[in-house]
Amino acid sequence: MDTIKSVNAMQQWVNAAKTAGKTITLVPTMGFLHQGHLSLLDEGRKRGDLLVLSIFVNPTQFGQGEDFEEYPRDLGKDSQLALAAGVDMIFAPDAGEMYPRGYATYVDVEGITTNLCGASRPGHFRGVCTVVNKLFNIIQPDTAIFGNKDFQQLAVIRRMTSDLNLPIDIVGMPIHREADGLAMSSRNVNLSTERRQQALALSQALAQARQLVAAGNTDATAIIAQLKKSINTQPDARIDYIQICHQLTLEDQDSINADSVLLLAVHFGSTRLIDNGFLLG
Ligand code: PAJ
Repeated sequence: MDTIKSVNAMQQWVNAAKTAGKTITLVPTMGFLHQGHLSLLDEGRKRGDLLVLSIFVNPTQFGQGEDFEEYPRDLGKDSQLALAAGVDMIFAPDAGEMYPRGYATYVDVEGITTNLCGASRPGHFRGVCTVVNKLFNIIQPDTAIFGNKDFQQLAVIRRMTSDLNLPIDIVGMPIHREADGLAMSSRNVNLSTERRQQALALSQALAQARQLVAAGNTDATAIIAQLKKSINTQPDARIDYIQICHQLTLEDQDSINADSVLLLAVHFGSTRLIDNGFLLG
């Protein structure tokens, strides 16, 4: 396994692979790999001839005052984990390689980017779509694998792939959790021990919502109000949003049905955590 840092070299490697008739699977990440990322790589290993892992902390998807600087990075450790996971090639460009001087082109998906993270992080999905589109163009994968952890991101990428006629199979994988329920995230290392404990409020809110639904509650506003009360008992929690949306449109729902997904974003200090899950079934 090797690591390529230049776009040019990556394109040459891809050309050679295509000429040899190989299929390529891509797992795009921002690195600081955890079990959630590794579950995507495991799936990727099963799906194509060659498995590419991209590692790039993408500046254009972070807003002013967000945690771009604090975002954890460890390419050495990531490389060891990637090797053990059967990755064939790591693509780890730096920002100047992806966005050279004079860079001016962005990809904007409308509609499903306006709610949820799109509302609280203006420009975030424009950055995500731009970088993912560039990665797709550079690596030309047959398959690309994403996690349901970033539920809206996956929906937006599916929309973009379909709208731009990209011949790529987009695969979504379940959320990988710590034993106590906390959704795995590279950002979890930035939580103090105390806030790590408080952060369990997210997965507990999901469980609480499912219990409320199982007990016959169908009113989304009432359920959300109860969840807000529970999360606000954590001293450092600052709720960004708690919403119940249709799984495909990501529009808010008034009452629960089989398409209902609960989506949460909560800050603990400067660390913002997200989680989500279906409420029925
Ligand atoms: P990153 O947060 O590193 O996540 C990379 C991929 O891993 C995403 O598809 C994400 O949904 C998935 N993932 C993260 N935590 C997971 C978990 N606990 N269980 C399962 N999958 C999980 O998402 C990004 O990077 C970036 O926005 C990116 C798509 C790479 C564009 O820059």
